[in-house]
Amino acid sequence: MAIRLGDIAPDFTAETTDGRIRFHEWKGNGWAVLFSHPRDFTPVCTTELGAVAKLKPEFDRRNTKVMGLSVDPLDSHTRWAGDIKDVTGAALNFPLIADPDQSIAKMYDMIHPNASDTATVRSVFIIGPDNKVKLTLTYPASTGRNFAELLRVIDSLQLTAAHAVSTPADWKQGEDVIILPSVSDDEARKRFPGFVTKKPYLRTAKHPETAAV
Ligand code: BEZ
Repeated sequence: MAIRLGDIAPDFTAETTDGRIRFHEWKGNGWAVLFSHPRDFTPVCTTELGAVAKLKPEFDRRNTKVMGLSVDPLDSHTRWAGDIKDVTGAALNFPLIADPDQSIAKMYDMIHPNASDTATVRSVFIIGPDNKVKLTLTYPASTGRNFAELLRVIDSLQLTAAHAVSTPADWKQGEDVIILPSVSDDEARKRFPGFVTKKPYLRTAKHPETAAV
């Protein structure tokens, strides 16, 4: 069954390149990104894993742990890690799940049989401190993901969890935000001084954590 936004991310125990991990325990009260790639020793996947390794400090800064998965066995992951370092210059610095029996891949609906019976697609789940799924993405094997976009989404998710705002198209951390329609103009004047009404349903305000008061 598909995992949808707001669902509790299913817990599991996995063999990973960092040893045996219980997902919810490992994640703790922070945020997590769980992503699958189709196969070890494949070109796009090699570039993706290096890209995530390079961005690890940025995920750390956002209190977000990252974990990858494919249906390859552990010894394959371990051998492939050398290639990732060779090709991208970044050593694997986050756990990679070995899921040869596909149990976790199936739990998270990462195998799409009309794309491939045997390999996972490029799935992404962002999971919040409450263990609920906040974002899902599915990319085909042929297209490497933009992992900086995940950081942008995490910035938005963390901001909108803390303030009565949403973020517009292409928003980046620090830029103006949108005041939720459920906030009255009177309330908005107190919480978002100087907000701008572009349409009655579209009011923008300075970023609530950087705006001078
Ligand atoms: C790749 O990572 O390049 C790849 C993996 C599986 C199928 C196609 C491409």
